[in-house]
Amino acid sequence: AADERTDRIEAALEELGDDVVILGHNYQRREIVEHADFIGDSYQLSKEAAEADAEYVIFGGVTFMAESADIITDDDQSVILPSMEASCPMAGMAEALQVDSAWAEITAAAPDADIVPITYMNSYADLKAFCASQGGLVCTSSNAHKAFEYAFERGDKVLFLPDKHLGENTAHRLGMEDEIAEWDPWDPEGKDADEVAESDIILWDGYCQVHERFREDHVDQIRADHPDANVIVHPECRREVVEAADVAGSTATICETVAEADPGDTWAIGTEIHLTNHLQRWHPEVNVLPLCGDACMDCNAMRQIDPNYLTWVLEELAEGREHNVIEVAPEEKELAGVALDRMLEI
Ligand code: 13P
Ligand code: SF4
Repeated sequence: AADERTDRIEAALEELGDDVVILGHNYQRREIVEHADFIGDSYQLSKEAAEADAEYVIFGGVTFMAESADIITDDDQSVILPSMEASCPMAGMAEALQVDSAWAEITAAAPDADIVPITYMNSYADLKAFCASQGGLVCTSSNAHKAFEYAFERGDKVLFLPDKHLGENTAHRLGMEDEIAEWDPWDPEGKDADEVAESDIILWDGYCQVHERFREDHVDQIRADHPDANVIVHPECRREVVEAADVAGSTATICETVAEADPGDTWAIGTEIHLTNHLQRWHPEVNVLPLCGDACMDCNAMRQIDPNYLTWVLEELAEGREHNVIEVAPEEKELAGVALDRMLEI
């Protein structure tokens, strides 16, 4: 069945020719990345989307990535997400309406401060638009430190959404770990106005349910079982996990690090399991291990992009029918585009 599906995908792609480009995030299944024209992290894929000429950009990834691709591409290009169920839970942890009301409370807590909101790429277009409207911008895990620097050149405080772990890890990278206040919009006790007034960095209480599952003792166990292992983790992991690791970086950094390893080196990978499996396949000369042993660090949002859906959208396109087109509302598109452009310029 897998061979038959591959044949069908290839036949549809041949029919569509240059009309279609397929982008695949590093966390996509093997059957998706094998058909991708570009594989990369969120930042690389947004650049590829910006440069794509094809009429249809098929996005192997999650909704917020496809939205960003729609914002960045020209109006006559369409972005297609093979499954509408592929929604990142972290992006859903900071809804624009909720952030709007939190913003009123946060700015009231520090009335004399100039607060710059930064949203992680893993957020919906309306939140990106909100950040731009307040002088802020978007970042990915590979340029969060630069986004903070951009913000501190223009204001006194940063509100970072939605990922508190990436925010905390970035604060450490900049030597600002003593400047953090947390803002938990779901807990009346988690909203401390005094702390906001005293701190330079305010972290929204969101997280990635995949990366949060890595624990410090996973790192200890790997080091005990494989004393020669190097450990690399994604900065969406908890602070103590990042501290225990040798390197932290975006999925592109993880790919580059393993690609540059010497034959026989051992690298334990603390990120979504599909990428770890790809790295084992792509670099058989390196000993690639999942950081968490048998526990499956699998992102159920990314996994929604089933190869059968990819087949379906491609075959339908070849017949002239478009499905699952991701279109950001025009009123959000322009401002969210400003937030993304600011990121692409830093
Ligand atoms: P990057 O590929 O930008 O490192 O992001 C990881 C991620 O969790 C996307 O959902
Ligand atoms: Fe969202 Fe985490 Fe999945 Fe990335 S790995 S799409 S942040 S839930």
